[in-house]
Amino acid sequence: MPESLDIDRLERAVKSVYRDVAEEPAEEYHFEMGRPLAERLGYPDRDLDTIPEEALESFAGVGYHFDFAGLDEGDDVLDLGSGSGTDVFVAAVHVGESGSVTGVDMTDEQLVKARHLRDEGEMDNVSFERGYIEDLPFEDGTFDVVLSNGVINLSPDKQQVFTEANRVLTAGGRIAISDIISEEPMPESIKNNEDLWAACIGGAEQVDRYTRLIEAAGFEVRDVRDNQQYEFVSAQAANACQQYGVKSISLGART
Ligand SMILES: C[S@@+](CC[C@H](N)C(=O)[O-])C[C@H]1O[C@@H](n2cnc3c(N)ncnc32)[C@H](O)[C@@H]1O
Repeated sequence: MPESLDIDRLERAVKSVYRDVAEEPAEEYHFEMGRPLAERLGYPDRDLDTIPEEALESFAGVGYHFDFAGLDEGDDVLDLGSGSGTDVFVAAVHVGESGSVTGVDMTDEQLVKARHLRDEGEMDNVSFERGYIEDLPFEDGTFDVVLSNGVINLSPDKQQVFTEANRVLTAGGRIAISDIISEEPMPESIKNNEDLWAACIGGAEQVDRYTRLIEAAGFEVRDVRDNQQYEFVSAQAANACQQYGVKSISLGART
C-alpha cells in the first residue's frame, strides 16, 4: 500500500462508487456490469435465470470461480464484498436448503438492495451482514467455503483479508475468488488515484505477491486462471491495463 494513501478517503470513494452501482446500475462506470458481463465470464444461464434480475443489474464481478469452489449441497458459504447479491444468490442455488450463504459488505445501499431481494425471494438460508472483510464479524471455523468477486483489490490490507478468510473457514475449507491483479508494479500516481482505486485498478496487487499473501495466510493455492473475457470500459482504465498488465484472474485454494 502506498504510504501516502488516505484510508478514510479511499473508503469514502469506494462506498460512493458502490452506492451508485446499487442504486444507478444503468449509469456509466469504468467497468462493465450486468447479465451480459456475467454470461461472458462463464456463469451458466440456468443459474442466472434462477436469481433476481435486479441483483444481476448491479453485478460488478470480474470472473467466474464457482468451478473452483465446488459447492456441495449443505455447505455453509461466505461471500466477501457481496454487493447486490449475485454470487450469494447463485451459491444459494447450489447449497440448497440444508446449506446457508452469508454475504458481507461495507456499503449500506448494497446491503439494502440485497436484503430486499432476499426477502422478496423468501430465501431463508441467505443473509447479508454489514462488515469489513479485514475484520469479519464471524466466529472461527464458521464456513466451508469463502467466495469473493472483484473485491479484495479494493482493500488496503490484503494480507489481513486472507488471514480473516482462513480464520472463519473450517479445517479443509476452500476459498474461490476472482480479482484484479497487475503483472507490473504500478506507479504511485495510479495507486494514489482514488477514482482508479475505486474502479478496481489502483489497488491491484502484483500477481506473484498476491499468491504469496494467500499462502502466508495458511492456504495452498491449487488453481489460477486468467479471465481474458474481462475488460475495463473507460479509456483511462483501459490505458492502465495495457501499460501495467492489469487483468482479472480466478483462483482456488484450500486451508
Ligand atoms: C466491485 S463490487 C463487487 C460486488 C459483488 N461481489 C459482485 O460481484 O457484484 C465491490 C464490493 O465490495 C465492497 N467492499 C469493498 N471493500 C470492502 C471492505 N473492505 N469490506 C467490505 N466490503 C467491501 C463494496 O462495498 C462493493 O459492494
